[in-house]
Amino acid sequence: MTYSFPPTFQWGTATAAYQIEGAIQADGRAPSVWDTFSTQAGTVLNGDTGAIACDHYHRYRDDIQLLADLGIQHYRFSVAWPRILPQGSGAVNSAGLAFYDKLVDGLLAQGITPHVTLFHWDSPQALEDRYGSWRSREMAKDFADYATVVVKALGDRVTHWMTLNEIFCFTHLGYGVNQIPPHAPGTVVSSLKDVWQTSHHALLAHGLGCQAIRAASPQTCTVSLVDNFLATIPTVETPENIAAAQTAFHTVGTNGGIIFPALTGEYSPALLEQLGDQAPDIAPGDLDTIRQPLDALGFNVYSGVYVRAAETPLGYEILPFPKGYPRLHMPWLHVVPESLYWGVRHVSTTLNQPQMPVFISENGCAAQDELTQQSEVLDLDRIHYLRQYLHAAHRAVVEGYPLQGYFLWSLMDNFEWAYGYDRRFGITYIDYPTQQRIPKASFYWYKQCIAANQIL
Ligand code: NOJ
Repeated sequence: MTYSFPPTFQWGTATAAYQIEGAIQADGRAPSVWDTFSTQAGTVLNGDTGAIACDHYHRYRDDIQLLADLGIQHYRFSVAWPRILPQGSGAVNSAGLAFYDKLVDGLLAQGITPHVTLFHWDSPQALEDRYGSWRSREMAKDFADYATVVVKALGDRVTHWMTLNEIFCFTHLGYGVNQIPPHAPGTVVSSLKDVWQTSHHALLAHGLGCQAIRAASPQTCTVSLVDNFLATIPTVETPENIAAAQTAFHTVGTNGGIIFPALTGEYSPALLEQLGDQAPDIAPGDLDTIRQPLDALGFNVYSGVYVRAAETPLGYEILPFPKGYPRLHMPWLHVVPESLYWGVRHVSTTLNQPQMPVFISENGCAAQDELTQQSEVLDLDRIHYLRQYLHAAHRAVVEGYPLQGYFLWSLMDNFEWAYGYDRRFGITYIDYPTQQRIPKASFYWYKQCIAANQIL
């Protein structure tokens, strides 16, 4: 049996600015909240920061060549807001824009389509100092103005835009998780309501951002949101367990307050009931702003949760992962390939958006990669993981769900946020002291899959 994809299926790979660029002081860039956060003692493993990262800012030509060697046609990267508007709003830094100009031209010259994320967590520190970033509604307006600047500059060549990446992570993990060390930048706020208010502001940014992109784009373009909603998987695929997974989908993680309003224009009623007086304040008109027509939804998927029907008040239970459940090199990275399939299916069914094209905007894993004496990285564990998730993608396609592409996270090892350089998600090994790029076994495997348009 072969596992082929339709000829239109988009094979891609993804990165994000702060995780690869380095060059944090180059050409007028001002600090982002991650620069500030990572330089505070005890925040990031081993005291790592994004100051140099993969030095992509200076080595972008080599990295475009790497993409060309991979035979990829689609590349997702993000633009760093503090390069473009160092003060968050106001004066535009044309030297910052020039970098992305060159990057886009270089990609197009190799026949690679750029897919641009406007915000992947590195917001300007200036806005944190001015009004507390996502604690303020101002942030949504400033994001839309920033989007306008970028789209005006690149929109003659870029036609695929993503607004925000993983709202849950940069709001709830930054403002809501009172742990030591903290997980992400953001002043821990005093109530759950205030945490939800930050994600509500991010949703507004998404909505205003969509409008800004469409207004500024000189040509027809696609606009999407990238979300890491949590997929609920029926432990056994019987009608009652499937129904249980659908019910649970509303309230697990932050689904009910992020993907629900973004796609349906309403917070999930089940979530609102659970939150009670901790629900965010929603001003008149907000939900209309938030629910914008989207051309596609980007789904970042790494793991999921198993659900079964049960005689509980909610009618289901979430099953804990047993000790010894297969996991890759992050505490949360349980291997749950079905989450890809079920995530796509929930968009169609539970969110009632059967026409909404979905693409996997990220999927991948951290593994304990080592260089052999022959300078190879034999990351068979990563190939094993990826192959299973691609099978789940194949199932979604075969069953007729509108899954249009797959972006592997990540093109290369990079700054994995609070885990610094300790966790490697790349299909290319970065030897940080020399900045040498060494394609791993998974790189060559993925290259063959792309070329054959099938899982090999
Ligand atoms: C999702 C995030 O978008 C990305 O920045 C991160 O590196 C991966 N997950 C892996 O944790």
